Amino acid sequence: MSFISHAVGWIVQPPFFGLDISDLTLKFAKVHRSKAGADIDYFGEVKIPSGVVEKGEVKNEGELFALLKKHLIDAEGRRPQERYVVASLPEEKSFVRLLQLPKIQRKEVASAIRWELEANIPLPIDQTYFDYEIVHSPDASSDHFDVLVTVFPRDIVNSYTNVLKRAGLRPLALELESQAISRALIDESMAGDGYILIDIGMTRTSFILYGGGSIILTLSIEVGGIDFDAAIAKALGIGRDEAERAKKEFGLDKKYHSGEMVDALIPLLSALVDELKKQIWFYRDHAEHRHGSFPSEIKAIYLVGGDANLIGIDKYLAVSVKKPVLMGDPFLGVYGRGGGHVPPVPKNASLKYCTAIGLALRSEYGLLNAS
Ligand SMILES: Nc1ncnc2c1ncn2[C@@H]1O[C@H](COP(=O)(O)OP(=O)(O)OP(=O)(O)O)[C@@H](O)[C@H]1O
Ligand SMILES: [Mg+2]
Repeated sequence: MSFISHAVGWIVQPPFFGLDISDLTLKFAKVHRSKAGADIDYFGEVKIPSGVVEKGEVKNEGELFALLKKHLIDAEGRRPQERYVVASLPEEKSFVRLLQLPKIQRKEVASAIRWELEANIPLPIDQTYFDYEIVHSPDASSDHFDVLVTVFPRDIVNSYTNVLKRAGLRPLALELESQAISRALIDESMAGDGYILIDIGMTRTSFILYGGGSIILTLSIEVGGIDFDAAIAKALGIGRDEAERAKKEFGLDKKYHSGEMVDALIPLLSALVDELKKQIWFYRDHAEHRHGSFPSEIKAIYLVGGDANLIGIDKYLAVSVKKPVLMGDPFLGVYGRGGGHVPPVPKNASLKYCTAIGLALRSEYGLLNAS
């Protein structure tokens, strides 16, 4: 499922890399597959000055183009040689809906979705691209289709595509961060259960509700690492950079500064907990609706993104929502569960690359499904 900016005449997938465009960073990763298994070829990160991409909107195409053209370089000085990319679209600008459609002919699905979307999304349908994937087809016992629909504003898709093309890159597919993250973190053995995946980034936190083999819903809130740093700086009377260093070193350690840093972070973490609780309820309700076709409770919550490294955040969330909270493994989709592979970076340093790795793992691409 994806937005494709142009049809490519490849039958076998051409070599490509994954490109995660955030407000303040570009991250990239390349995975190669061979008979011996998959491995990471390279990965890296480039900072984006503020004001170039804001809340997922490209504000300065020229500057982003220059970064892509000149500064996409990994820690060992290597540049991606591939012309093709699978890039992410910002989660906060998208709409993801799992729709239930009555048992209709497959060829009628697209127009039924269009009809449903008109009532369900806050944008005129002709200003969007939408794409869909049938998650559950009706069998003898069921009377409906489950269809996962992704909707995106046309102007955002077009501006991302323009910049990539100007930089000499050809987008094979544009997809949502949530799709990439789910692909990286969830393997076949997990697909039947219910999970919440949380990406805690610099500017926002995205929640992905996953169950019955598909994303059910995604949601972003504007709370991220920068807000953590600002709250710490204010409480301790220090600068933002120093606050970020203290955050990384001490996390939720109550002994640090007599607990003042933890106290400063609690209101922000509470916002995460509130959202998480809502999603747990939503999942229960959804599972009940599905008449027990998948488990009625969330099995675990996985954290990724740079701020998932905050020491103690997993325990804090676990106690608050009474569910297991674990660090995600961005390399699961690359190396599998067999063990024996030494990832190119320690797990904590890899959490922020989850989206880029998920994009690099994409193994199929569709055609533009414009409305
Ligand atoms: N050890 C650590 N402890 C706490 N926070 C950390 C640690 N290491 C990095 N971070 C934080 O991770 C954040 C960067 O994460 P990430 O790269 O996932 O964000 P991003 O993808 O650029 O942002 P967004 O997805 O919000 O647009 C920064 O806020 C940084 O302070
Ligand atoms: Mg991010």
